[in-house]
Amino acid sequence: MEQDKSHVLVIGSGGAGIRAAIEASKYGETVLVSKTLLGKGGCTTMAEGGYNAVMRDCDNCEDHYEDTMKGGAYLNEPNLVRALTNEAPDRMKDLINWGAVFDVTPECTIAQRPFGGQRFPRTCFAGDRTGHEMIVTLSEHLRATSVRIYEEISIISLLTDDGRVTGALGIERSGEMRAFLADATILATGGGTRIYDISTNSSSGTGDGYALGYRAGAVLIDMEQVQFHPTGAVYPYDARGRLVTEAVRGEGGILLNTKGERFMSKYDPERMELSTRDVVARSIATEILSGNGTERGGVYLDVSHLPAKTIEERLPVMLEQFLAYGVDIRTEPMEVAPTAHHMMGGLKISEEGLTSIPGLYACGEVSGGVHGANRLGGNALAETQVFGKRAGESAGKSRESEKVLPINQVNDQEKRLQAFYHGDIQPVVVEMELRQQMWQKAGIFRTAKDLEVVGKAIENLAVMNMKASSGENLAGCCTVQNMYCTASLVVNSALIRKESRGAHVRKDIRQDWDALNSPFGHTWISLTSSGAEMRRNL
Ligand code: FUM
Repeated sequence: MEQDKSHVLVIGSGGAGIRAAIEASKYGETVLVSKTLLGKGGCTTMAEGGYNAVMRDCDNCEDHYEDTMKGGAYLNEPNLVRALTNEAPDRMKDLINWGAVFDVTPECTIAQRPFGGQRFPRTCFAGDRTGHEMIVTLSEHLRATSVRIYEEISIISLLTDDGRVTGALGIERSGEMRAFLADATILATGGGTRIYDISTNSSSGTGDGYALGYRAGAVLIDMEQVQFHPTGAVYPYDARGRLVTEAVRGEGGILLNTKGERFMSKYDPERMELSTRDVVARSIATEILSGNGTERGGVYLDVSHLPAKTIEERLPVMLEQFLAYGVDIRTEPMEVAPTAHHMMGGLKISEEGLTSIPGLYACGEVSGGVHGANRLGGNALAETQVFGKRAGESAGKSRESEKVLPINQVNDQEKRLQAFYHGDIQPVVVEMELRQQMWQKAGIFRTAKDLEVVGKAIENLAVMNMKASSGENLAGCCTVQNMYCTASLVVNSALIRKESRGAHVRKDIRQDWDALNSPFGHTWISLTSSGAEMRRNL
């Protein structure tokens, strides 16, 4: 088997992974492994609306911190939020220095737009293709470093030695295994909301990093906290769930039900459409469930009152996307409904990005704690850069160790792969059933009864024998295993959190506290234990 040895191994090629690799390469040989072609997978490239950073004297990091904590229903780790809000501006400047082109004002300062839950228009943007601009810039910068890049390799397990992560095993498209041994390994595999039937994520958002970390023994926190973006496309069928950026509301878009009511006045009269995502998604879902939705199961999002020039210049991707669906948003409303978008929970990390296992770091969506129970739109792109740099630097500074391939772990993975040749069910069948179950029973509104039903369904799916007809299908089987592992982490954590908090709503639990006075802290889950922290400092 081919073996690669390096100082730092980065798994994942979204914004966080590339930023981490760039930083780590300053300290020693660095390898980046991507399951797609570089720049073609992950969620960063699909992020539309923007990057939150304090860029003006009339704004300040303390306000960004408070907005983020309040938006996160105070479940966020304060130190991580401090790092995010204090360092987002400098990481933004790095991007600009490396050539990223963000929109500017007539005075040639960085333009910023309002996003939900923020008291200041703090969201920097490149039209409505901000993530794409970042990925193009980061990829170009990465290629100018010494980082060795492996594309189209799926990592199937982390390697460990005496409780320390020492690298990873991957499979190439052909099904051949390849080992990566490293002093430090960084997981930057993004999120996993493809476990839901309707999702904004690209096909690579399958929760691989949660499953890899969990199986290696890492602690994950707040996995129940799944963000449903309020506005995804409703039709055509193939476009269901596709992101309709919050920038549409930031630029002045309004939400209407089929009675023509601007219904956000009932749910958050002060912030209206720019309330936090948990509130807006719940409000839309409530309108639809109360019979005020469209025949296709959405509500209207309207920008037709804005000047056509604003739409053309600020929302070009939205304009083009909806024209392709037969809707001219300059004159007609869009139909939108909530769609699974982001996972706030993930691997527990320190401020340096170190997980609970020595040798293993995590950054970006795969990590938990930054966003608490609800992420503010625009904070994810900033997170990729702040924590990508931090994880890259800390991993780069880690100590050298002997790099020996643990043969027993390779043999275990070989057995796992061989079993797929004797399976009898196509992975896609398992995947589709999982996604339906999660959408129906572990969505915006939850009860213990539904969660137990979906938990049982996942157990049944997990014992099915998935089939690979050739080496090329092996990665697909491993991916579906990652999906149901991630789903079970979400469902089990959702059962543990016996309260409604942020994006997690338990319809079957009555509570007499608000987020600020909740008795609960993080939920945690690992191979050996799970539970809910009681909140400190009440
Ligand atoms: O709505 C959006 O453009 C998404 C942004 C984000 O999730 O941060």
